[in-house]
Amino acid sequence: MARAFIAANLPLQPAPGIPDIRIHTATPRSGLRRLVAGRNPYWAWCWAGGLALARHILARPRLVAGRRVLDLGSGSGLVAIAAMLAGAAHALAVDADADAVAAVEVNAKANGVDVQTLHADLLEDAAPAVDVVLVGDLFYDRDLAQRTASFLERCRLMGVDVLIGDPGRAFLPLDRLELVAEHAARDFGESGAGEGSARVYAFRKAG
Ligand SMILES: C[S@@+](CC[C@H](N)C(=O)[O-])C[C@H]1O[C@@H](n2cnc3c(N)ncnc32)[C@H](O)[C@@H]1O
Repeated sequence: MARAFIAANLPLQPAPGIPDIRIHTATPRSGLRRLVAGRNPYWAWCWAGGLALARHILARPRLVAGRRVLDLGSGSGLVAIAAMLAGAAHALAVDADADAVAAVEVNAKANGVDVQTLHADLLEDAAPAVDVVLVGDLFYDRDLAQRTASFLERCRLMGVDVLIGDPGRAFLPLDRLELVAEHAARDFGESGAGEGSARVYAFRKAG
């Protein structure tokens, strides 16, 4: 149901600033409320953090090439798709919203890549069996940010690399982050081309 709705009502558009990736993106005519009934359809747009991270990976494919990747809080799946286009061995897109999982499936197919999906909240779990965790724009809520930071800490302790894309959300744990790059990225809600930017950070081990 969600997959058919997305394919029929959200036009396939180039991700802002990333013409190589096309994403089913909501417009005022999409009638999203018919699908989501009060939930936040974050998956229906590309967020600045994910856009910066996707650009970063596509420009530096060695970060993910041949490696197992987890896209945490995948939304549309933009970052997982970028990872597969950059040569990742395997990408798992995880989101707590079932509609996001449907969107990832539709978007991955539209871009001709295989992305595994999981409808779950993994933040209380042990580190997953992956080589890299990619996190696009997940630090917009205090509790979510704290849970995410704890999860990423467990990942780092297991030797998993962690890259975060973020436009400066309120709860970004800057004391744990090392700035890697800054990329032009239009945030959701901004209009016009080339506005805004977002940063890519590596998550450091404690101490
Ligand atoms: C702001 S959107 C970012 C989406 C995408 N990464 C991007 O940059 O375009 C945040 C996403 O994280 C998901 N999310 C929120 N809490 C989560 C959790 N505990 N586990 C998994 N996904 C979560 C939301 O459903 C939403 O799709």
